[in-house]
Amino acid sequence: MKLDINAVPTPSYVLEEETLRRNLAIFDRVQRESGAKIILALKGFAFWSAFPWIRETLHGATASSLHEARLAYEEFKRETHVYSVAFSDAEFPEILKIADHIVFNSFSQWRRFRDQVKGSPRKPQCGIRINPGYSEIKTPLYDPCYANSRLGVTRAEFKPEDLDGISGLHFHAHCGNNSDTLERVVESFEKLYGEFIPKMKWINFGGGHHITRADYDVDRLIRVVKSFRERHGVEVYLEPGEAVGWRTGPLVSSVLDIVRNGMDIAILDTSATAHMPDTLEMPYRPEIRGAAEPGVLPHTYRLGGLTCLAGDVIGDYSFEKPLEIGDRLVFEDMIHYTIVKNTTFNGVNLPSLCIWTKEGELKVVRKFGYEDYRDRNS
Ligand SMILES: Cc1ncc(COP(=O)(O)O)c(C=O)c1O
Repeated sequence: MKLDINAVPTPSYVLEEETLRRNLAIFDRVQRESGAKIILALKGFAFWSAFPWIRETLHGATASSLHEARLAYEEFKRETHVYSVAFSDAEFPEILKIADHIVFNSFSQWRRFRDQVKGSPRKPQCGIRINPGYSEIKTPLYDPCYANSRLGVTRAEFKPEDLDGISGLHFHAHCGNNSDTLERVVESFEKLYGEFIPKMKWINFGGGHHITRADYDVDRLIRVVKSFRERHGVEVYLEPGEAVGWRTGPLVSSVLDIVRNGMDIAILDTSATAHMPDTLEMPYRPEIRGAAEPGVLPHTYRLGGLTCLAGDVIGDYSFEKPLEIGDRLVFEDMIHYTIVKNTTFNGVNLPSLCIWTKEGELKVVRKFGYEDYRDRNS
């Protein structure tokens, strides 16, 4: 059944159960054939109404903060993994109560908290994030291996004498990469840290693996993980965020006004900066259903957001027919890294959260209002 776009209250993110389940089937195959354990990175996808479907397949969720850890523990209800660039004295005891795996970003953090870990009833498994010394990420904003990066211990700073109590190593050096890149990162990791792997129970290969993208080489991923596990006798974790939410639904918006300044400009009831921040931060050009590059179709518009930020512009697009006030525009693939990053800048309301079930029902699972804006300001 096709989603009736005109029935969607705008603006709304619409998570499609069927495409999410399609992604989960790919993860299921990877886990069965490679032996990897896959966990959901909440930083990219935290739409927890969908957790009951996701936990049928994925082993758990990974958090980067106390709040994400609570969400993993309370709503995902399988393994709770936590990695933070730095844990605070105030929050660490709370994390200790709910975490199954804790990954430290430095040996100084591990030394600071290891006695608390040893004395805790839950006894989480601990790991150290290392810098594998190699990545192929083109955008420095997303590259944890750039010169002087604060993310992960370098080989020069690695402290073998402090490994007592450490059962895993973690690296995250991918961002939308394919599995040939993983193969090269693993090679660099083994060259630098291979001597420590026999002391470990697990190695976490981080996130950034675009496993559910159409051109991702899943067979190679399976080969890389399987042969690593066989070579070293350890468990392997993968923790994708984006690949879980990849192409699982759009952001639906409406045209509120059309103005002119040298060209036609449509003002939408959504915002690049508040509702799809990566279009400005990454930056990238989102795909709009039925639209093309400017000038390709007869009617070209600049699409602008609701906030007073001059650069709150999504881009220039062309359409078959002239846009009219009230028309719906469908921004494709807007579930991952949008909802988790959106803001109420300018007091602009947050888009509703909807689910389009595989039975063809549109459920509005969350609407936002004035209180959400008020309560985060004092
Ligand atoms: C440590 C860590 N794990 C997992 C992820 C998830 O990455 P992605 O959503 O690209 O799969 C990230 C993203 O920044 C990360 O920093």
